[in-house]
Amino acid sequence: MGKIVAVANLKGGTGKTTVAVNVAGALARRHDVVLVDADPQQAATAWTRGADNRVRARRHVMESGGEGGDGASDAGCRRWIEAVRGAAHSADYVVVDLPPRLSAVVAAAFALAEVVIVPVTPGGAEMRATRRTTAMIARARAARDGSRPDCILVPNRVDRRTAVGRALDSHLRELGEAVGPVLRQRAVHMSSFDAGAWVGAHAPDSEAMGEIEALVKYLRNRPDQQPAPPEASGAPASELSSSL
Ligand SMILES: Nc1ncnc2c1ncn2[C@@H]1O[C@H](COP(=O)(O)OP(=O)(O)OP(=O)(O)O)[C@@H](O)[C@H]1O
Ligand SMILES: [Mg+2]
Repeated sequence: MGKIVAVANLKGGTGKTTVAVNVAGALARRHDVVLVDADPQQAATAWTRGADNRVRARRHVMESGGEGGDGASDAGCRRWIEAVRGAAHSADYVVVDLPPRLSAVVAAAFALAEVVIVPVTPGGAEMRATRRTTAMIARARAARDGSRPDCILVPNRVDRRTAVGRALDSHLRELGEAVGPVLRQRAVHMSSFDAGAWVGAHAPDSEAMGEIEALVKYLRNRPDQQPAPPEASGAPASELSSSL
């Protein structure tokens, strides 16, 4: 059974799709990977349309659920869970890009995932939503064996020239979850969407790619809650909750 990696934050625009597409792309160099696009906006599907992607997103939106599965029936919820479990039977990793809302599909993903990556951009509203997201992960953990899903908070769009950028990782550490390598504000993430390619295909020697590699390395060698690593060097790449 492959590992299910959910990418979530209850706040919109924090980089969930960017992280999901690029983590899936990087993992796919060595593993069989399925990227599940669970967001009705279908950004991951649009992003992976180009020919250079080994991973093309599969659309698995929770049926009859409206935005994010809020109104999904129990049967719709069960079908979504079976589709993701089915994907995990045939792959080493399933990466799930989630919508930015408290919804049945997010709860279902937390019930299945081995790890949840939570990208967070600087800002007060983002911190509040991230706190709600980690609280939801903690509830999902309590409803399971108490240790899964792991959580990796990922500071994203960080600009060290700004005070909020410099303060982000120390604020995240207060949440009591692992804090992964930092992803800086990099224009190449925007141009890779326009190119329909993950960053490793679009800009393989970029600093953005180096940061994605550092994140994937952290994910794969995830220590059992050891202290967070130093910030990524940015060097070019060389190489259901209780309610369900
Ligand atoms: N590290 C980064 N550097 C520069 N731009 C970034 C970075 N991360 C994300 N972006 C840009 O920020 C915008 C939002 O990113 P993305 O779509 O990944 O967020 P999201 O959390 O999936 O949004 P939504 O909640 O709408 O699904 C996009 O234009 C993306 O290109
Ligand atoms: Mg998205």
